[in-house]
Amino acid sequence: MNYADLDSSGPQRLRIAMIASECVPFAKTGGLADVMGSLPKTLKAMGHDVLVVMPKYGCIDVVKHNLHRFYSQMGVWMGDREEWCAVDTTRMDGDVPVYFIESLKFFGRSGLYHDAELNDYPDNAQRFAFLTRAALQLCHDTRFDADIVHAHDWQTALAAAYLKVWHWNDAVLGKAASVLTIHNIGYQGVYPAEHINYLGLQWGNFTPEKLEDHGNINFLKGGIVYADLVNTVSPTYAEETRTPEFAHGLAPYLNDKGADYLGILNGIDYTEWDPATDPLIPARYSRHDMRGKAICKEALQRRFGLDIDPEVPIVGVISRFAEQKGLDILAACIEEIITDMPVQFVILGSGDLTLEDFYGDLAWSYPGQVGTFIGYSNELAHWIEAGSDFFIMPSRYEPCGLNQIYSLRYGTLPIVRNTGGLADTVEQYDERVGSGTGFKFTTLSPRAIYYVVGWAVSTWYDRRSHIGKMRRKGMIQDFSWEESARAYLRAYRQAIENKQQLT
Ligand code: ADP
Ligand code: GLC
Repeated sequence: MNYADLDSSGPQRLRIAMIASECVPFAKTGGLADVMGSLPKTLKAMGHDVLVVMPKYGCIDVVKHNLHRFYSQMGVWMGDREEWCAVDTTRMDGDVPVYFIESLKFFGRSGLYHDAELNDYPDNAQRFAFLTRAALQLCHDTRFDADIVHAHDWQTALAAAYLKVWHWNDAVLGKAASVLTIHNIGYQGVYPAEHINYLGLQWGNFTPEKLEDHGNINFLKGGIVYADLVNTVSPTYAEETRTPEFAHGLAPYLNDKGADYLGILNGIDYTEWDPATDPLIPARYSRHDMRGKAICKEALQRRFGLDIDPEVPIVGVISRFAEQKGLDILAACIEEIITDMPVQFVILGSGDLTLEDFYGDLAWSYPGQVGTFIGYSNELAHWIEAGSDFFIMPSRYEPCGLNQIYSLRYGTLPIVRNTGGLADTVEQYDERVGSGTGFKFTTLSPRAIYYVVGWAVSTWYDRRSHIGKMRRKGMIQDFSWEESARAYLRAYRQAIENKQQLT
């Protein structure tokens, strides 16, 4: 589909360079990769000129994705030395050019950010500063005179600083405005001050107003300060992060941005996440014919060794096991839930080792009622979205969250904490009339989770017609990228104006 005519925000064709540490289908640990796999494509389809730059990690399947050599050698100046890399390229979905920075020293490892024991790589500051510099160098060398350099999260946030400190007078990048998207303020990239020499961002900028943070350098803070515009991935999270409770120390800098700090809700890619066309699930279905969902449910029960019973509701979990996700709080009440309620759980995730052990053991303790897969599996993620009746996300905070949006399309009712993007995408169930699209709770406690799951389960058994009504309503929600991409285009134009006012 060509969206060019729909782009009401102006006729000008923008040149956009996106720099990110992960991107579907090449390398993924979380939702950032999903966003990178779909926002650039949508902007391209709207008639803009977009490219993506990311690392060539050891885990990327070079043959499957048809990577080929673009530059065999590119020199990249860091502050105190020249580094060398190669550059590969391919096209995402045959359309958007993606460039991969190849450096065995920095990226020739299978993990993205940490080793198999979850230890962060000790040179992450250098790795991602180098990625960012290399991406700008590549734009420069290919004469890609970007209107917008769009950075994502702490890993590439310093692009905004480099544009202002290094490239301000550059014939190719001198006019580029910077946009920084914060997908998660809980990860900021905080490193010892001496890295300033390698980064080349000058000690004069190592001040509390710019890069310094309690004696360290803070990549995300630097990005916020230098960017022409900053956004996060939902309106509610944008509001929340203006307060100390949610901002992990950065609220003053976000508030300083004023109207140049926005919340833009993520879209999702319905070409990948739609039960009517999903090739990964056991049977396809739509709101007009839900028979396939029953087949998916039975297949899920079989695959996870659960009792085969269409009458018992399944609650699904797909998550990184990280503090943010609140799965430790679910752990504190899940045994009471499965003892007291006729309900099954299917859990897919990895991360925190204590939680991996806990949820792994749970499946052994409650065979037939709990199934767990510790690890990462895109196929299982699709199976769980399709085969479950409910999907739970008890997040401490959630910048956007994608799984609850996938759940809506799969007719799987979300049970979510009322925070961030979860608050923006799920409409509370009203049991008087059967309206809403899911179940929301506010207090972060085992009791609150017990009650909200109980509410969902009792609705399943006692008000089944409401379940059907909510499913149908959830399945017609449209969170496709077009509207969000248009919001990004407006943000880009605002960033360009901000930049022009500076020069
Ligand atoms: P976050 O980025 O904070 O992890 P999101 O909800 O935005 O949260 O995105 C998570 C993405 O990662 C979703 O696409 C989800 O399906 C996927 N995901 C998370 N854990 C796993 C896993 N263990 N196996 C497969 N996919 C997973
Ligand atoms: C982050 C957030 C998640 C968001 C994703 C994509 O990892 O934790 O809420 O959906 O980025 O923006």
